Amino acid sequence: MYAKDDYIAVFDSGVGGISVLRQLRKLMPDEKFIYFGDTANAPYGSRPTSEVRTLTLAAAQMLREKYPVKALVVACNTATAAAIETLRVAYPDFIVIGIEPALKLAADHFPGGRIGVMATQVTLREEKFDHLLHRFDRECTVAKIPAPGLVELIEGGKGDSPECEVFLRELLGPYAGRLDALVLGCTHYPFVQRTIAKVLGPETILLHGGAGTARETKRRLEKAGLLRTGQGEVILLESQGNPAKLELARRLLG
Ligand code: DGL
Repeated sequence: MYAKDDYIAVFDSGVGGISVLRQLRKLMPDEKFIYFGDTANAPYGSRPTSEVRTLTLAAAQMLREKYPVKALVVACNTATAAAIETLRVAYPDFIVIGIEPALKLAADHFPGGRIGVMATQVTLREEKFDHLLHRFDRECTVAKIPAPGLVELIEGGKGDSPECEVFLRELLGPYAGRLDALVLGCTHYPFVQRTIAKVLGPETILLHGGAGTARETKRRLEKAGLLRTGQGEVILLESQGNPAKLELARRLLG
């Protein structure tokens, strides 16, 4: 079965899940991680849901077949929205953890507040998000903010560029000073959070689910008796076979 020394696999459409991997490493420095970004097929967020599901299942299968893995962290809100239930049915004994927009965290911080949720089109249109929204939208005012094109800029290594700042000003300028919290509902977005904060101003708090996902992963591994001690390790993989992508992933990992 599964062993403490097995890897924790972390999956995203591209380099975004590195923002979750950073939290996972911080919380569990002794663990061995294998990160896979499906860069050949990114972005997922503008694809039909069925395609995202197929790609996510293929990635999970590849990781399980090629490496000894004890858990899978789907570090992608889009893939979680499209495929987490199917993954759990396909691998009933396997620890599978997903990530979803941190709307609960935002509503807990600001009861009755004004909250924006920035995420991909797939995440915002899926039933999973509708359920989440209906738990909080009677109490809070929630604005859905899709950001098509932003993942491409970050994947292209342009997260810090003037072009990205222009993009974010156009998208978020109308919300400046009008939100209590903005939920970063895509794992790519924490990599541009400084610019987002600059555009929205100091009265808006930015929240994302990376730390919560890391805590949940640790809790599940602990419960299963699968937490490891020893020298930690990270293996980075991506599907394009592009050294520049791995370099970008390494840089974002820090
Ligand atoms: N990082 C992914 C997420 O959290 C989405 C990126 C994409 O569109 O591929 O939703």
